[in-house]
Amino acid sequence: MKSLVSKSISILAIESSCDETAASVCRNGQILSNIIANQTVHEAYGGVVPELASRAHLQNIVPVVDNAIKKAGISLSEIDAVAFTSAPGLIGSLLVGAQFAKSLALSLNKPLIAVHHMQAHVLANLLNDPPPSYPFLCLTVSGGHTQIVLCHSPDQLTVIGQTRDDAAGEAFDKSAKLLGLPYPGGPLIDKFAKEGDPLRFKFPEPQIAGLDFSFSGLKTSILYFLQDNEKKDGEFINKNLADICASIQHRIVSILLNKLEKAALQTGIRQLCIAGGVSANSGLREGLITLGEKRHWETFIPKFEYCTDNAAMIAITAYHKYLAGESVALNVPVSARAEW
Ligand code: KG4
Ligand code: ZN
Repeated sequence: MKSLVSKSISILAIESSCDETAASVCRNGQILSNIIANQTVHEAYGGVVPELASRAHLQNIVPVVDNAIKKAGISLSEIDAVAFTSAPGLIGSLLVGAQFAKSLALSLNKPLIAVHHMQAHVLANLLNDPPPSYPFLCLTVSGGHTQIVLCHSPDQLTVIGQTRDDAAGEAFDKSAKLLGLPYPGGPLIDKFAKEGDPLRFKFPEPQIAGLDFSFSGLKTSILYFLQDNEKKDGEFINKNLADICASIQHRIVSILLNKLEKAALQTGIRQLCIAGGVSANSGLREGLITLGEKRHWETFIPKFEYCTDNAAMIAITAYHKYLAGESVALNVPVSARAEW
């Protein structure tokens, strides 16, 4: 008798584009495991050191993948495809994940699926319950990118706005650095902002035409603001840290959400998502909900673990590629570049 249950599809995904070594297993679009090893080795340097990141990936990758398989409660032989992040990222870091995934796919004789990291951030929203329906808009905000993406289907994503200089994550991290906070400073600004007054200090909103962003002017104005006030009172930052963080966060979030609102008005799309590391920011999450309530638009916010770099987003993207019959040859290259 023909089975009424269609075959279940299990994907093992690996993410190693920057300083997180991550692996995840998804079955039929449901995440069974999502393991991340963070690299603390960079803390002393105020930013990610590419060579140290590659070496840490080499140490982490076997235990992280092993853990993901065990936590999912499956055996390697049950894997239907192996996926990995092929771009963009640090080339040495990408190579570690890619070589591991290729070797595993070869030894298991299973298809290999290459995933673009920025597309995966967007499609992390498919893990929301309920997920957005198509078409939706996604504001993708990470350490290296700031984009508004129009998504018609898992393989039809168009960037309709992006930053001309710094990314939103850089705006957070560089501001934090000016305040003497360690890298990455975004989560710390978020933490201190919770105790502060967001309207105490006014920072300028850049006037950029269309749906593009710019954060370099804001960074310069924060620098001069801090220098001027520290000249008058050497304890200015210490005394006002919470209000400064709240005011910086308020401005970054308003720049982001004003453009997203503009994109929704221009396209007529009423389903709004956020993605990427900065979408973990509490001000942005609350601001999106408020925007949705004000306009009666639907909003989608990924769980925290699917905002910052993770392999679950690679797994869900690969699952849709698998369904579409997309796989790559074992000699597919990795690329540091962001083009889709
Ligand atoms: O997506 P992601 O994990 O890595 C990249 O692909 O870049 O994003 C990292 C960025 C960093 O700039 C970090 O400071 C920022 O996300 N970030 C935050 C928060 N959590 C992470 N920024 C503001 N508030 C947060 N809570
Ligand atoms: Zn990322």
